[in-house]
Amino acid sequence: MEYFKLNNTFRIPKVGMGTNTFGKENNQYDGALNMDIEPYKLAYKNGYRLFDTAKGYRNEKVLHAFIKQEKINRSELIIQTKISSKNVDINDEYKVKEMIEESINYFLGYVDVYFIHHPSTDEENLILWKYLIEYYKTGHIKALGVSNFSVEQINYLIENTGFKPQINQIVSNNSNWNHSLIFDLQKMDILPQAWSPLHVDEAYISMIEPIASKYKKTWAQVLLKAQISRYVSVIPKSHNNLRQQENIDIFDFQLTHEEINTILNIIDK
Ligand SMILES: NC(=O)c1ccc[n+]([C@@H]2O[C@H](COP(=O)([O-])OP(=O)(O)OC[C@H]3O[C@@H](n4cnc5c(N)ncnc54)[C@H](OP(=O)(O)O)[C@@H]3O)[C@@H](O)[C@H]2O)c1
Repeated sequence: MEYFKLNNTFRIPKVGMGTNTFGKENNQYDGALNMDIEPYKLAYKNGYRLFDTAKGYRNEKVLHAFIKQEKINRSELIIQTKISSKNVDINDEYKVKEMIEESINYFLGYVDVYFIHHPSTDEENLILWKYLIEYYKTGHIKALGVSNFSVEQINYLIENTGFKPQINQIVSNNSNWNHSLIFDLQKMDILPQAWSPLHVDEAYISMIEPIASKYKKTWAQVLLKAQISRYVSVIPKSHNNLRQQENIDIFDFQLTHEEINTILNIIDK
């Protein structure tokens, strides 16, 4: 595995595992929790060490069960979770802190990256950000993240606290590559992390297939490789053994600059 170093020197794997349907009936986002730890076991066996969860996914406790039942050495894992004003009344300090501490306890004393999942008003974002900073200062959170934030929303947090996020988790796939936001984040030394990196259409897959076959890789592998090659981390999700293996097996080839641009629909100026 290769790593990206964040602006506070903390390191995270370039490829992590999305888990928004893990531990749920029929692998459905809205499915009832069934506490099935098999997808985590599979991902761990296949080499994944970064797991991305959220309060909104309701499955922090399943990741906890996996760690405990499998007696995983916590220091091997990088765990990301998220909270937003959709999950809790953020003016209720006791409740918000209870929820943050629930994550800290589930993940055995600390969370590697804690995100604000969705932006709200600037004032509400700031309230939540200040809570997260408190736990960052005590070492219970190793890196701070935002998700789906604009540069303006991030700047408001920085101007009012002096704390810059380490990561902004945003959509990046062929429905919205988010190139200009990614470019701006990189100028600010904030790592862009792509969610739903494999949500693409058939026409797009056909377009990048020739590049994939040149390297004897799949379309998903060259797409993920293109993202990490431009310093965007990825959290593809799969419940399938072979596809999990495929998505992490992207470190033995290099794409050319032109191929990266083709895959990501980047037009060089
Ligand atoms: N911050 C946010 O607002 C936000 C929003 C959405 C998602 N997320 C995070 O991002 C993670 C990833 O996003 P996602 O789960 O929406 O989508 P994704 O990872 O882009 O795609 C998942 C889908 O692609 C399939 N797949 C996986 N590997 C494949 C491969 N090599 N070839 C072909 N198909 C493949 C999976 O099916 P199989 O399982 O059958 O392989 C699944 O249907 C989420 O799990 C979540 O952790 C965050």
